[in-house]
Amino acid sequence: MRFALSFFFLAKVCLADVASYISMEGPIAKAGVLANIGTKGAKPGIVIASPSTIDPDYLYTWTRDSSLVFKLLIDQYTRRIDTTLLNQITDFITAEGILQGVSNPSGSVGEPKFNVDETAFTGPWGRPQRDGPALRATAMMTFANYLISSGNISYPANTIWPMVKIDLDYVSANWNNTGFDLWEEVDGSSFFTIAVQHRALREGATFATLQGDNTRAATYNTQAANLLCFLQGFWSSSSSALIANINVNNGRGGLDANTILGSIHTFDPAAGPDAITFQPGSDKALLNHYTTVNSFRGSLYTINSHIAAGQAVNIGRYKEDVYYNGNPWYLATFAAAEQLYLAIYQWEQAGQINVTSTSLPFFTQLVSSTTVQNYPSNTPGYRTLISAVFSYADGFLELAKEYTPSSGRLSEQYLKSNGTQTSAVDLTWSYASALTAFFARNGTILGNAWGAKGLTTPCGPGATVSITFLETATTMSGESIYITGSIDALQNWSTSTALPLSSTKYPVWSITLDVPASTTFQYKYIRIRNGVVTWESDPNRSLTSPASGTYTERDTWR
Ligand SMILES: *[C@@H]1O[C@H](CO)[C@@H](O)[C@H](O)[C@H]1NC(C)=O
Ligand SMILES: *[C@@H]1O[C@H](CO)[C@@H](O)[C@H](O)[C@H]1NC(C)=O
Ligand SMILES: *[C@@H]1O[C@H](CO)[C@@H](O)[C@H](O)[C@H]1NC(C)=O
Ligand SMILES: *[C@@H]1O[C@H](CO)[C@@H](O)[C@H](O)[C@H]1NC(C)=O
Ligand SMILES: *[C@@H]1O[C@H](CO)[C@@H](O)[C@H](O)[C@H]1NC(C)=O
Ligand SMILES: *[C@@H]1O[C@H](CO)[C@@H](O)[C@H](O)[C@H]1NC(C)=O
Ligand SMILES: *[C@@H]1O[C@H](CO)[C@@H](O)[C@H](O)[C@H]1NC(C)=O
Repeated sequence: MRFALSFFFLAKVCLADVASYISMEGPIAKAGVLANIGTKGAKPGIVIASPSTIDPDYLYTWTRDSSLVFKLLIDQYTRRIDTTLLNQITDFITAEGILQGVSNPSGSVGEPKFNVDETAFTGPWGRPQRDGPALRATAMMTFANYLISSGNISYPANTIWPMVKIDLDYVSANWNNTGFDLWEEVDGSSFFTIAVQHRALREGATFATLQGDNTRAATYNTQAANLLCFLQGFWSSSSSALIANINVNNGRGGLDANTILGSIHTFDPAAGPDAITFQPGSDKALLNHYTTVNSFRGSLYTINSHIAAGQAVNIGRYKEDVYYNGNPWYLATFAAAEQLYLAIYQWEQAGQINVTSTSLPFFTQLVSSTTVQNYPSNTPGYRTLISAVFSYADGFLELAKEYTPSSGRLSEQYLKSNGTQTSAVDLTWSYASALTAFFARNGTILGNAWGAKGLTTPCGPGATVSITFLETATTMSGESIYITGSIDALQNWSTSTALPLSSTKYPVWSITLDVPASTTFQYKYIRIRNGVVTWESDPNRSLTSPASGTYTERDTWR
């Protein structure tokens, strides 16, 4: 009883601690974000990464950082949390429209960084970076959808859609090329980049339909399916984690806050805790959180060395980091907390926590008696897990509090030796990451649904792809073209149940079929007139379906 009471007392003190930190830091973080827009020589709407001009010089504008920051402000505006932000938002859109047109060393909107006076930065850099256009499109579409829902059709159609098209056409055409990751160091395929590109194209397909562009909607959908398939390849069951960068051999283990950031920035409040998009509450994202957080435990950072397993630690980018000797970053520590608050939201919505063998290590570090089972929300076991996860998440904020100076100002990093701030002062993204974590903690959901709900196996066993068969054939009156072939979807070579093509674009006959992905099969066209079947000449046609997406096959009768 004594123990229980003192435990309760301690828990209360911690809760109060975090609440007081949030009430102090929240307004400072908001002011910190706003102070870095259109300042220090920057044009209106231009976000500077930090006012720091030496060691390091961050007085530039990055498409990624600016878009993440404005997504937060747009969310606050469109949810009527802060109705004063309209001018900043339209200034941002105007500024980004100018930057889209600035000729630059990448030769595309994949250019990561510009001078604050809206001219090109021409020095050497890790370019291109393909997350920026996706994040910018997401931010702008969030604003456009709000305007449309409040009856403002023209600005979304005439100003936002032309810009979104440029960004999404770029993503659609280039996602399958390597580029630099969000830390601007690795030229490969980065989880964060692929995840935010997938999201942007999904919501982009819906937005394109709304703008009456069905051709782009179809293209974005096809590429989104391909991206979702590719995204699965970042999961490594042998590492018990998402690997941050693939298609590159950089000598790193692959554990990186990149993946936690990817999960929180693709959170979809309408989706469940789904593993297919690595939603924050999914078993894979939780095991990834466990493994990634563990990589920062022990002696890597002196300020973590006294912290026991199962308790929050200070988080950096990745353990092999040597930038400023490798330290914890505020935005990474905040992200570790935010993923867990968002996970709690998803479990509350789902009315259960489904502990699987994948997520078990995450839960047993907090509640050792956890087993693989479903914990419905009306059971004590569920409440125990929720409060353990909530306290664990709060632990990350307590560390941020411990290493926030009394001024409340947040730099980029704090020293691994003693927590003193280092690198760029007043980092805009540090402030934004504090705010998104604070909002997630009190259940104020800022994110919008983007289409993650209900997505299923995009590739691998059981996946299907849509193939359109086009057969050019002139026919006699009363004669029709059919297809049959070696697989179930093509009727196992049956002529009596062969599938009829449509002749709406005669002499091109067409049919679109769902067939198993990555499968080689044979087929032929037949013509049938008055029950008489005529086969195409040999050999049988052969086709291998793609791993994902859609495909069009063009044939001519022979
Ligand atoms: C639509 O929104 C834009 C951006 O805020 C604004 O400039 C414009 O006046 C609005 N138009 C209407 C018809 O409300
Ligand atoms: C391109 O996509 C294929 C199919 O998903 C994948 O195997 C390959 O690694 C990708 N390459 C890059 C650079 O994205
Ligand atoms: C829990 O997850 C497992 C594995 O993904 C799944 O087979 C099972 O149907 C889920 N149970 C519930 C109640 O959602
Ligand atoms: C923290 O460590 C740095 C570098 O090791 C040192 O310069 C600084 O004085 C230390 N600060 C405190 C408060 O101990
Ligand atoms: C939730 O947190 C945010 C950020 O700290 C704060 O601005 C907001 O007032 C809080 N809302 C509620 C309902 O507590
Ligand atoms: C095709 O053959 C498979 C395997 O014999 C069978 O299961 C399936 O029902 C057949 N499908 C059709 C459409 O005949
Ligand atoms: C075409 O496939 C059918 C069914 O498997 C087979 O009987 C026939 O011999 C094949 N034709 C040729 C030319 O290989």
